[in-house]
Amino acid sequence: MTKPHEELELGQFIPLHYHFHMLNDNARVSSFKMAIEHVVRPGARVLDLGGGTGVLSFFAARQHARVWCVERNPQLVHEARKILARNHYPGEVEVIEADAFSYLPPEPVDVVICEMVHVAMLREKQIPVIHAFKQRYLEKFGGPLPLFVPEAFIHAVQPVHQSFNFEGYYAPAPLFQEPCATQNRTWELGPPAIYQTACYAETLPAHCNWDGEITIERAGTLNALRFITKNILAILPQQGRSIDWHSQYMVVPLEEVIEVEAGQKLRVRFNCAPGDPLDALRPEVFAC
Ligand SMILES: C[S@@+](CC[C@H](N)C(=O)[O-])C[C@H]1O[C@@H](n2cnc3c(N)ncnc32)[C@H](O)[C@@H]1O
Repeated sequence: MTKPHEELELGQFIPLHYHFHMLNDNARVSSFKMAIEHVVRPGARVLDLGGGTGVLSFFAARQHARVWCVERNPQLVHEARKILARNHYPGEVEVIEADAFSYLPPEPVDVVICEMVHVAMLREKQIPVIHAFKQRYLEKFGGPLPLFVPEAFIHAVQPVHQSFNFEGYYAPAPLFQEPCATQNRTWELGPPAIYQTACYAETLPAHCNWDGEITIERAGTLNALRFITKNILAILPQQGRSIDWHSQYMVVPLEEVIEVEAGQKLRVRFNCAPGDPLDALRPEVFAC
């Protein structure tokens, strides 16, 4: 559950103009569209938790589904109703102003869509919301659980050298990057190391801890770690592939820089919980 002071933090409260920025993120929107078209069958009942402008509910309703779109921010509830009314789809969408931590649909659903995802599962409440939903749902309706979009996630961490020099002003602060794109101010010193994987239908982690090893492949000055979250939106076993979407990468500066050599192993340790604020992630790096 969110605490009162968190309600005003970005991630819990997302201003309307930022929703249009998210709509403009073509990789995000097109991957969700593809996954929803794959998973939602005609006549399906769908719950969209954290519906925002209603875009993901719209994709489901276009598949002839009946959708409950749950949004807590009254401004977004109003906007979603208005925007959905301007679009055409053969299904039905009901926009409900409610808290995803406590809402349950009036009948069992086939699919739950939930996009409250932030890199490293920080800031937004994706994991606590789905964990609470599963408990309430099973108590009220019994099994089976619906399908989840996304179905799973993979977390990785990568050693990098990051330029924190801005026109001569040195400001090492966490920064976000477009995923899977060339970054000309970031030098990759080693490959990403996977530190956590989970499926939403299974038991979800209460912590995003790690105490593990990374390998350096290129000598340089290690001054940051890059956190990567790959969201598996839908698994297509017959086609042997999945529909994926990477959250924005997050580069976290280290308290102390380390000169590293190719072949060196380093120990990385961090300890935070899903939904924690960004500053809860304070990774430490030690020579092995
Ligand atoms: C990352 S946005 C995604 C919006 C939309 N689904 C999309 O894909 O564009 C997350 C949305 O979840 C809403 N939200 C956050 N916590 C919520 C809660 N506890 N109950 C209902 N909505 C919530 C936010 O207001 C925001 O609109």
